[in-house]
Amino acid sequence: MLTPPKGRDLLSMADLTSTELHGLLELAAQLKAGTYQPKCPNKVLGLVFSKASTRTRVSFSVAMYQLGGQVLALTAGVTQVGRGEPTADTARVLDRYVDVVAIRTFEQAEIEEFARYASIPVINALTDLEHPCQILADLLTLKEAFGTLENLTMSYLGDGINVAHSLMLGCALAGVNIRVGTPDGFAPNPTVVNQAIELAQGRSTVVVTTDPKAAVQGSHALYTDVWASMGDESEAASRIPKFQPYQINQAMLDLADEHAIILHCLPAHRGEEITHDAKEGPQSRLWDQAENRLHAQKALLASILSAV
Ligand code: CP
Ligand code: NVA
Repeated sequence: MLTPPKGRDLLSMADLTSTELHGLLELAAQLKAGTYQPKCPNKVLGLVFSKASTRTRVSFSVAMYQLGGQVLALTAGVTQVGRGEPTADTARVLDRYVDVVAIRTFEQAEIEEFARYASIPVINALTDLEHPCQILADLLTLKEAFGTLENLTMSYLGDGINVAHSLMLGCALAGVNIRVGTPDGFAPNPTVVNQAIELAQGRSTVVVTTDPKAAVQGSHALYTDVWASMGDESEAASRIPKFQPYQINQAMLDLADEHAIILHCLPAHRGEEITHDAKEGPQSRLWDQAENRLHAQKALLASILSAV
């Protein structure tokens, strides 16, 4: 039974219930197959982005156009946001013009403040803490590869930040076992880890380790992200030796399930978190995963805007 999150914010993956998440994935699959085409004409999505983006920006825009709506690109450089207009004021003004906003910024507190001041739905399009829209596409890709989300294990190797956080919460809600392997000092936020354990409700397991081999043993999906995220670029070179044992390469694939798939939110730094062969090889699902951003976010927008 589909229970879409009508009229609500998606600030964290944990804003969804397990039923809502499964419902969104089902809807995304229907939209991808072309068997159902909801419409929300005259609705306007504002993209309030303070960080770079290819996939999120374009997939949200195309999703909204395909739903019959319109998009406004409100990058910080072209609005008064870049000149320091407070979030609370921006939120109350945009609230009067657009029907939904997707925000990409640094602090999670900023989108929470925006949502407090705006009555329209607010979608997290990436903060330093979370990237829930990415994980909708990732779970859709996993489900497509195995035909189910039951009895699967996802392994994430790398930096324990935004993508890892939402992935832990999303896997916990979806009933997928999640193992996160990070170098010392780069473990996920303990509050998010506890939240994931709570959301899993014993349906699936949540493991955090510094042992990359233990993290990938027998796993069905190996997932990684850049070693230095947007905002951490100054540490990129110094992190390489610490993160090297967490690279996704043939040796890691050999430890995983023989049908394991490789995932990466992209953009990728070949030769760092993932080898060229792993990225381009037969187990890679990177392009399906990127395509699924479109279908998953279209499902999210259609649900939030009550078009389904
Ligand atoms: N994966 C992802 O969010 O990509 P972009 O930064 O290009 O939007
Ligand atoms: N962790 C990365 C994800 C990019 C989509 C970053 O925040 O830069």
